[in-house]
Amino acid sequence: MIFDLLTIFPEIFTSPLQASLLGKAIQKKLVQVRVHDIRTFTTDKHHRVDDIPYGGGPGMVMKPEPLVAALESLPVPDKKVRRIYLSPQGRRLEQGILSNYLQYEQLILLCGRYEGVDARVEHWIDEEISIGDYVLMGGELPALVFLEALVRLIPGVVGKEESVRHDSFSAGLLEYPQYTRPEEFRGHQVPEVLLSGDHQKIESWRQQAAQEVTARKRQDLRRGLKF
Ligand SMILES: C[S@@+](CC[C@H](N)C(=O)[O-])C[C@H]1O[C@@H](n2cnc3c(N)ncnc32)[C@H](O)[C@@H]1O
Repeated sequence: MIFDLLTIFPEIFTSPLQASLLGKAIQKKLVQVRVHDIRTFTTDKHHRVDDIPYGGGPGMVMKPEPLVAALESLPVPDKKVRRIYLSPQGRRLEQGILSNYLQYEQLILLCGRYEGVDARVEHWIDEEISIGDYVLMGGELPALVFLEALVRLIPGVVGKEESVRHDSFSAGLLEYPQYTRPEEFRGHQVPEVLLSGDHQKIESWRQQAAQEVTARKRQDLRRGLKF
């Protein structure tokens, strides 16, 4: 899968794309991530990417010309592509919708800045995605959130695919509590059953614990599941 990230701050992506499992996925060529500076798609001598809003008001708006030039030039021929604008006004990103994007061979992620992009750019966008009901200064962190959440679903990226299946939200529940050594830490014991080696018992304890955690921490999820 190819990800094209369109931004006026390419340097924001340097470290996140090198570190940890995302960095490894790129190294192993499980995904290709290309970062494009929107300024390189400008044609004026000052490389302007923003201008004042028609009708007045505070802030600047991202000009449509370089954005549309990029959105038109980036799709790779014959690849199934989707163009996404990260925007607080978009569809809320949730675990349940992520796997829909695995069908695409190329995802173009447009990161806004300032007051956002000229509204006419929507004609060159397939979808807007929001990472939550709050406003950030730019779309770069939302693009990374989307990228990381999606890339970890690609087979081979996370060591044990089973761990992705058990993650919170995958089956509608939060994940069961996890413990590691030592068995006792400052008076707090690891639940006995996890030391028993009885896989059936462990499985049913985890099932029960996932329900309890969900009921305690996320009543809204619990109501949807009716347990
Ligand atoms: C300051 S915001 C613009 C907000 C816009 N004026 C509004 O009220 O809808 C600048 C950019 O940050 C990004 N952004 C901010 N919050 C976001 C969110 N919750 N989800 C996705 N992108 C977001 C978008 O790319 C947006 O164009």
